[in-house]
Amino acid sequence: MVVLARVADHMQREYDIIIWGASGFTGKIVCDYMRENYSGGNLTWAIGGRNRSKLNALQAASGVDVLVADAHDPSALTELVKKTRVVLTTVGPYARYGSELVKACAEQGTHYCDLTGEVHWMRNMIERYDAAAKDSGAKIVHTCGFDSIPSDIGVFFMQQQMNNKHGVAASHIKYRTRAFKGGFSGGTIDSMMAMMESAKTDPKIMTTIADPYALNFSHRGLDGVDQNSQFYDSDFQAWVGPFVMAAINTRVVRRSNELMGQVYGNEFRYDEGSIVGAGVGAMVGSTALAMGTRLMNGLAAIEPTRKLMQKVLPKPGEGPSAEIIDSGFFEIELLAKHPSDPQKNLLGRVKGDKDPGYGSTAKMLAECAVALAQDNLPTTGGFWTPASAMGDALLERLPANAGVTFDLVEPTGT
Ligand SMILES: NC(=O)c1ccc[n+]([C@@H]2O[C@H](COP(=O)([O-])OP(=O)(O)OC[C@H]3O[C@@H](n4cnc5c(N)ncnc54)[C@H](OP(=O)(O)O)[C@@H]3O)[C@@H](O)[C@H]2O)c1
Repeated sequence: MVVLARVADHMQREYDIIIWGASGFTGKIVCDYMRENYSGGNLTWAIGGRNRSKLNALQAASGVDVLVADAHDPSALTELVKKTRVVLTTVGPYARYGSELVKACAEQGTHYCDLTGEVHWMRNMIERYDAAAKDSGAKIVHTCGFDSIPSDIGVFFMQQQMNNKHGVAASHIKYRTRAFKGGFSGGTIDSMMAMMESAKTDPKIMTTIADPYALNFSHRGLDGVDQNSQFYDSDFQAWVGPFVMAAINTRVVRRSNELMGQVYGNEFRYDEGSIVGAGVGAMVGSTALAMGTRLMNGLAAIEPTRKLMQKVLPKPGEGPSAEIIDSGFFEIELLAKHPSDPQKNLLGRVKGDKDPGYGSTAKMLAECAVALAQDNLPTTGGFWTPASAMGDALLERLPANAGVTFDLVEPTGT
């Protein structure tokens, strides 16, 4: 009876989706996508945020309802989430602005998706609100943008292919960025800096961020710390440097394995890196990439240089130009290793037709929200990853609607 009442309440809500943070850099791109693709159909959506006048200006373009709530006003947030089946939020840094919203969604049975890459915060949210979400039926899904959809859904896709073709799970998957073009927004930089600032006051945060299984609660595997130096990868016959999002994506993929009952195997290994190329120039380039990544992390960790970086880098609300977003793209390769026969290894490719961080991210996030609102997903309430919550749905939606494709290239035999 309780479950039936909950389902009835959910079906009767005023909106399918509220886009919260609609006035931000990424929020506006999400609204454009929703207006172009989900106006006038059977999906009802509204926009929300803290500043009514900014939201009213956006409403003029989209014609949808406006809801106002501040991140630090729990009762306004509760009223807001009770009106909708799904909240899509781009209000970040999430550790600073997101906790009350997650709590309200978990308690009110409202599905939720976001763009956080703040691993310590995700762990904290799971610890605090997973029981409430399970109880209320709310499906809470973090990391629905460039981190970590190409990784998480890419691995989900490669494991399906390995299973379909060879009847086993791949024992090791390597994710390698082949090419991409895009930029950073002030909100993303603010989130990275905020994480560094919090780590300074709470050393446990650094320990969590460094843990390769930071988002696992019952199973740990064989993976060690992230690669932070260059190396020659004979599988790709190329020099490889660190990939800046690996510390987020790898945790999400490992959590997916746990949430799906270790379907990738207890000894599954997963790592990420950036292909620089072959030859001496690429060796030098991959070394520079590794040094540059360490330098950036080092500078962001020290207060005076962090403050200087915040002055010169884009501010919250700012980001790459429309031209950079439209001409941007990404291309990633995934090598899935057969557990015993290298001739049965598989190579896959994930591609996006806009810049990864904003154009493609906005489309991926919007499709996650629509999937949570409309698709018949196999999951109940709780904290999920994109793959464990809606892997099959996203493998249909993203290529069809969002310009993000997942393809098998060829058996590699390496
Ligand atoms: N995972 C990925 O691939 C990916 C990609 C892009 C972005 N992101 C993340 O997404 C987040 C947003 O990035 P962005 O560049 O869009 O940031 P942004 O332009 O700074 O937008 C932030 C939004 O949060 C709102 N906000 C700030 N404080 C608030 C409060 N107290 N109550 C309610 N709303 C509040 C802002 O409202 P106002 O307009 O009123 O200031 C704005 O709408 C960041 O955490 C970033 O790291 C992740």
